[in-house]
Amino acid sequence: MVNHKAPFRVLAIFGTRPEAIKMLPLVKALKEDPRFACRVAVTAQHREMLDQVMEIFNVTADYDLNIMAPGQTLYDITARAVKGLEKVLEQSSPDLVLVHGDTSTTFIGALAAFYGQIPVAHVEAGLRSGNKYSPFPEEMNRRLTGVIADLHLAPTVTAKTNLMQEGVEEGRIYITGNTVIDALQWAVRQPCPPTEDTRRVDELLKKMLDQGHLSRLLTVTCHRRENLGKPMEEIFHALRRLAEDFDDVAVVFPMHKNPAVRRPAQEILADHPRILLTEPMEYLQFAHLMDKSYLILTDSGGLQEEAPALGKPVLVLRNNTERPEAVSAGTAMLAGTDRHSVYTKAARLLLDKSAYLAMAKAVNPYGDGQACRRSIDAIARWARL
Ligand code: UD1
Ligand code: UDP
Repeated sequence: MVNHKAPFRVLAIFGTRPEAIKMLPLVKALKEDPRFACRVAVTAQHREMLDQVMEIFNVTADYDLNIMAPGQTLYDITARAVKGLEKVLEQSSPDLVLVHGDTSTTFIGALAAFYGQIPVAHVEAGLRSGNKYSPFPEEMNRRLTGVIADLHLAPTVTAKTNLMQEGVEEGRIYITGNTVIDALQWAVRQPCPPTEDTRRVDELLKKMLDQGHLSRLLTVTCHRRENLGKPMEEIFHALRRLAEDFDDVAVVFPMHKNPAVRRPAQEILADHPRILLTEPMEYLQFAHLMDKSYLILTDSGGLQEEAPALGKPVLVLRNNTERPEAVSAGTAMLAGTDRHSVYTKAARLLLDKSAYLAMAKAVNPYGDGQACRRSIDAIARWARL
């Protein structure tokens, strides 16, 4: 029987690197499903870091607001994105808007859809730290998005429970797993062509082996707004001391493009022979870098989900987390941001093999690589397709 029904129009709105990594596998799956017509609007709250991901997933945006500006404030992002999205929504007139996670683009995407009286599905719904200002502004972005959303695609049972405690109807929540695991499983299966930065990493590791040292790779990312300034400097001092005290440690830090991250990183870390500061890596290269790391230190959300899936212990460079599942499973640990705390926790994992092995177990509280399929099933059921 021929289905003459018009496809259900979905508009995916995102703007930063992590949203793109977690949303593009879903966008690609929607594009392959004849029940849907899926288009993409990027605010480009990030520019280079977003473009890197779009290229790897081979998706071109249908609408690009190109809003990024150096030193952009939350007010700048909000004003530019909401105004730009007004036109996009008028032109594309979707049946459903998809937003992901907790960035300013996420919340403004949901708000703009609400102004246009268009239903919203929230991917990676229900994460909560319980602290309005930490992470800032992400905790409030995701809570406000949750209030607007009609359909909540929760990655875990904990996320679903959080939503139900806030009064969201159970029938609107679907547990899907996190699409980052779909992305990661795909990425580690791809060949990983060397780049200038991956060559630098390989050369450093080889040089250390040639000098008779084991080489243990510590992969670091750090960018959170609430860590900018003093906390970030403290973290960087801890990293430097780790490199100074452990001859077999190499630290690789692909720096976020934010100058407020790069400046102190250069000042505190640049001149140590076993610390490599690199440009943001492309996702494939970065996934492979994580895979060969001994330990991951990060304040990123995505890495807290990816590291456990790869069996890598992760020290979270924050005082709280909205991703408690990996902490409960024993692969993640809160390390705070002061230099003593970060140094001591990392040093223990370098010195105490049994403490390390207790954390280095592959657990996957965030999904089984089927989150896109489940998300599509949930959207289809919700839309009665
Ligand atoms: C944003 C999100 C954060 C997310 C993070 C992922 C908000 C408020 N913050 O934070 O939730 O975890 O992205 O990385 O939504 N820059 C470039 N090129 C790029 C990207 C950034 O030059 O490709 C520079 C620009 O100078 C920009 C600055 O980085 O002004 C900060 O970017 P912004 O999106 O405001 O904040 P992030 O810290 O990246
Ligand atoms: N990532 C990447 N290249 C890098 C650093 C990180 O591709 O050089 C990926 C990482 O694997 C994860 C995502 O970017 O999937 C995390 O993005 P980010 O740290 O910018 O944001 P957050 O997760 O904190 O929101």
